[in-house]
Amino acid sequence: MTGKFFIREVDTADSEISETIEKLHRITLREDEVPDLLRGHWWLVYNGVGQAVGYCGLYPSYRYANAGYLIRAGVAAKHRGNGLQKRMIRVREAKARRLGWDWLFSDTCENPASANSLAACGFRMFEPKLPWNSNHKLALYWRKRL
Ligand SMILES: CC(C)(COP(=O)(O)OP(=O)(O)OC[C@H]1O[C@@H](n2cnc3c(N)ncnc32)[C@H](O)[C@@H]1OP(=O)(O)O)[C@@H](O)C(=O)NCCC(=O)NCCS
Repeated sequence: MTGKFFIREVDTADSEISETIEKLHRITLREDEVPDLLRGHWWLVYNGVGQAVGYCGLYPSYRYANAGYLIRAGVAAKHRGNGLQKRMIRVREAKARRLGWDWLFSDTCENPASANSLAACGFRMFEPKLPWNSNHKLALYWRKRL
């Protein structure tokens, strides 16, 4: 099943690419503002006929030195449950290692699918001294040493 999708790092300076991510963001995370797509690194997931069906981003951490932050991931509803989120975590982890980073961080809020994916990819929960999620009572904070 997983073989019919491929993930490619993309150049968000290309307006066609950024518009594709914005469109996918609108259908997967319509409540949230689109983050700055020119910061960090971004990937698109394509299905077997070349349609973009998922996206994810990796930012350098604002808070921790030599670390990255998994920002946003979304998969079109029809294609969920194929392990794509976990594949997108692994792709970003590989990039972070190539960049020589020591840690990856993320947070989830009332999102069991994302929490399961992070746990399956070896992330552990922790309590930051200064929680950063505005909904921090419900937030779970995750990190992985690379
Ligand atoms: C969260 C999201 C990216 C998951 O994408 P996905 O490709 O379906 O995820 P995966 O197939 O890798 O599955 C991840 C885990 O979700 C869990 N999962 C899948 N469907 C689930 C469901 N309906 N309820 C609870 N958990 C579920 C599974 O435990 C799975 O892990 P496992 O296979 O190791 O058990 C997707 O649901 C989505 O786009 N949601 C809307 C946007 C969003 O919430 N983004 C994340 C925050 S930025």
